[in-house]
Amino acid sequence: MEKTFGMIKPDAVERNLVGKILARIEAEGFKLVALRRIQMSKAQAEGFYAVHRQRPFFNDLTTYMSSGPALLMVLERENAILEWRNLMGATNPKDAAPGTLRKEFAIDIEKNSLHGSDAPETAAFEIPYFFSQTEIIS
Ligand code: CMP
Repeated sequence: MEKTFGMIKPDAVERNLVGKILARIEAEGFKLVALRRIQMSKAQAEGFYAVHRQRPFFNDLTTYMSSGPALLMVLERENAILEWRNLMGATNPKDAAPGTLRKEFAIDIEKNSLHGSDAPETAAFEIPYFFSQTEIIS
């Protein structure tokens, strides 16, 4: 069993899509082993996305990510990292395959509704960035 970090971003929370997205996550065999709703500070968003600090979209991204509530999740299943990325679909919804969550829900490349860790090292940074061990219950 593998764990990954997932997030329902402010654009999807604002449009009341949480229930639909969580239902799909459970239907695809993921167990929600941790869950919390927060509004990130700008500094928290900057720390979370620190690897993108040099990218031209960094300021817009961190402003957007701190603009409203988001849902933070730890998802568990076999091959959770890859399977969650497959379920989300491509970063840019224009490139997302039919049947993926971003194809169905995302607005554009920034307001793309969801986030997921892209590798084991990323999950190892992102999960403890928001969750303590005692909050993760398999
Ligand atoms: P996410 O998977 O959370 O990782 C970085 C985020 O930056 C990405 O989803 C998008 O929300 C945002 N973003 C905005 N512009 C771009 C871009 N040109 N390329 C990649 N990510 C972008």
